[in-house]
Amino acid sequence: MKTSVLLAVIATLASTQAKPLNERATAVVAGSATSDSIPWPTDDGYDESLYRLDQGHRGPTPTGIEPAAIQTAPAGYYPYVKEPSAPVVKPRARDAKSVDEFDVTSHWGVLTPYRSAPAILKDASPLPPPQCSVNGINVVHRHGARYPTASANPAKFASKLEEAVKTQQDANAAIQFNDELEFLADWTYKLGSAILTPIGRTEESDSGSAFRTKYGYLLKDIKAHKPIFRTTTQDRMFNSAIEFLAGFFGVENWQDRAHLVQIIEEEGHFNNTLNPSQTCEQEAADQGDKLKEEWYNHYLQDALTRLNAQAVNFDFTIDDVYALQDICAYETVALGYSEFCSLFTKDEWRGYEYAADLTNYGDDSFGSPLARARGLGWVQELLYRLSGQVSALEKQSTINTTLAYDQHTLPIDQTINIDFSHDVVLANILTTLNLTHLATPLPTDAIQSYSPEHLRWVTSNLTPFGSNIVIQSLECAGEQSGQYNRIVINDAVHPLTGINGCEDNKYGLCSRDAFVGGLQQIIQEVDFNGACYGDVENKLVAHGVPEW
Ligand SMILES: *[C@@H]1O[C@H](CO)[C@@H](O)[C@H](O)[C@H]1NC(C)=O
Ligand SMILES: *[C@@H]1O[C@H](CO)[C@@H](O)[C@H](O)[C@H]1NC(C)=O
Ligand SMILES: *[C@@H]1O[C@H](CO)[C@@H](O)[C@H](O)[C@H]1NC(C)=O
Repeated sequence: MKTSVLLAVIATLASTQAKPLNERATAVVAGSATSDSIPWPTDDGYDESLYRLDQGHRGPTPTGIEPAAIQTAPAGYYPYVKEPSAPVVKPRARDAKSVDEFDVTSHWGVLTPYRSAPAILKDASPLPPPQCSVNGINVVHRHGARYPTASANPAKFASKLEEAVKTQQDANAAIQFNDELEFLADWTYKLGSAILTPIGRTEESDSGSAFRTKYGYLLKDIKAHKPIFRTTTQDRMFNSAIEFLAGFFGVENWQDRAHLVQIIEEEGHFNNTLNPSQTCEQEAADQGDKLKEEWYNHYLQDALTRLNAQAVNFDFTIDDVYALQDICAYETVALGYSEFCSLFTKDEWRGYEYAADLTNYGDDSFGSPLARARGLGWVQELLYRLSGQVSALEKQSTINTTLAYDQHTLPIDQTINIDFSHDVVLANILTTLNLTHLATPLPTDAIQSYSPEHLRWVTSNLTPFGSNIVIQSLECAGEQSGQYNRIVINDAVHPLTGINGCEDNKYGLCSRDAFVGGLQQIIQEVDFNGACYGDVENKLVAHGVPEW
């Protein structure tokens, strides 16, 4: 009795405060796009000689030893990344008492700010096992936090809102947003499109500095030329690479210390192992989008009812509600904070995370009929780099042979190889590498359980912003004397049970010969033409290849 009176009073208060949008939001139309264009003059006439970069008087500049933290850190003390980059303000979930109770930012799938993934093999860390040392790395590294594309959910929702506000007067039906939604009355769309955000730049340069600190000692084995790194021409890929290199070598020096190859990323017929969908595209590719939609129609029903109860003359659809979760993540990694995040409960954030698992699983990994074919080219290049055998490149794939057969653009004499790419390509590569512990089918009516004993695809762990797959080459002495490889994804060592010839090993080690042999078999078995150009049925699969 008392409670309902109290609620009624609150409701009255709220409704007297909430004015129609056209009266309250005088300066802006809710949902409209806003952006800053700061009018810095490109030539202000100031005398450049006052600001010359190349000046003397730098003081002493001796360099120290190349750091080798991967070798020198004490066992058990690996520097895992546990928090998002400092400028991210962690939001509180709607039903959490504090931000510490539940870390919303770690549940954003491909929009998760970079952090280390939880360990899978309990005895293994990225530090080499006893009596082993790391003598080379092959890395594929994702770009940092970016804006959504202009056609993605967030912009779609903003346009819908803007349109509704503009037409409300004609319809004589004033839109009102009450209670938790009041902020929407003067919310505008503030995001750019597709390029890195400032936080995304930090993720890359932090990662560059971390790789230098862990693996810098490997540089002294690259003697014949400056180390060569690879990325694509796309703005966020290019900028991710140069931010990383600035972190790795220093902003002032990186161009004196490294070469950067940019493989063309463009619609058309450009072969590119770092963006294979340019030449391997079929309608059947995107199975995950359907799975995601089925799932959010399930887990967001309560949120839909709740939000619509706080809106007058505006109908949220289930697609809109999912878009609001996307907006939370994108605004946070672009602007540092988002009011949308606290609209959702802990369970709704767990649901959102799983939606990203379904998307990546079905679009880019074991659920996609194209995944293995798309990852093939990079795996061939990996085999070439590990074995030195040029025959690794022969099979037809997305390789640009002009670049791949040239030591100036794909060298095999480097102890450090780092390529920059997209989340979907990292997912393709893990599928081609046959990491079958990630292949567990995912239902769309409940969250598939996950534990070190029951592994599956978890996007937040595998392809967050700045994610990296490191294939370590190791040399071991003593009982297990010999050459080895293993795969470390965002600081978690993975079992290699899907690579034929690799034995169970608590450190994730596989002997070099078995690893190389396993890769050869993997490459042989991919039907590139069948998957990319064949008559592929549009359906969900289980092994990353078409099922005829
Ligand atoms: C291969 O790369 C070169 C150098 O960027 C480019 O000129 C050529 O068009 C590319 N070829 C294909 C098929 O992508
Ligand atoms: C590009 O890829 C296609 C398809 O695999 C292949 O036939 C062609 O030779 C490649 N071109 C170059 C320059 O690598
Ligand atoms: C992938 O792994 C599965 C077992 O997990 C195995 O049966 C299959 O032969 C592997 N495929 C290749 C190409 O190695």
